[in-house]
Amino acid sequence: MSGCHSSASHADGIVLDNYTSIIQTGEIEAGKPNKSELFEVITESDPDKRMPPPPAAALSPELIEQFRVWILQGAKNNACQSCDTNKIISFSQDVQPIIQTACLGCHQGSGASAGIDLSSYAGVKAVADNGKLNGSILHLNGFSPMPKNGNQLDICDRTKIIHWIQAGSLNN
Ligand code: HEC
Repeated sequence: MSGCHSSASHADGIVLDNYTSIIQTGEIEAGKPNKSELFEVITESDPDKRMPPPPAAALSPELIEQFRVWILQGAKNNACQSCDTNKIISFSQDVQPIIQTACLGCHQGSGASAGIDLSSYAGVKAVADNGKLNGSILHLNGFSPMPKNGNQLDICDRTKIIHWIQAGSLNN
């Protein structure tokens, strides 16, 4: 959002429009999101303390998650080269292979965990529509974190699935 923490305006002395300035704030502790003030302020539940402040909306859970992972991975000046999430995400090309690898071991057939069968488009669409796919893969409060007892999907796979949901969970 322009006009707040740019080189020209630098509200509170904080400049956030380039990598060097972001690191120079001293408010990012590489590897430790929970000790990084810049992460704290975007996750703050008190609107008087949260950034961006009202009337701007809080950042979406997926943006917050990307920021958290970036700090966790060392707050580097890098790019996500192998992960093009700006293209249209396809169910069959992008989403289904992730689900097949990470989820079908438990979520398939008559004994599917929680009665959730993710082997077909209809099954995945159902949990996309009721919010549980989003909540479980992002490990949001109130959902069982998935894949159960495994590592969280990497940021690239999570972002693909979230973008696919946001674009309407199409059978594309
Ligand atoms: C090792 C088995 C296992 C794997 C792998 C697994 N799940 Fe689950 N899943 C479960 C079980 C068991 C439950 C029932 C809730 C619980 O026990 O936590 C569940 C519940 C869920 C729910 C409902 C969550 C809720 O809060 O109501 C969703 C959605 C889900 N899984 C999606 C996934 C997705 C997507 C993947 C792959 C990224 C996945 N699961 C991988 C076992 C698994």
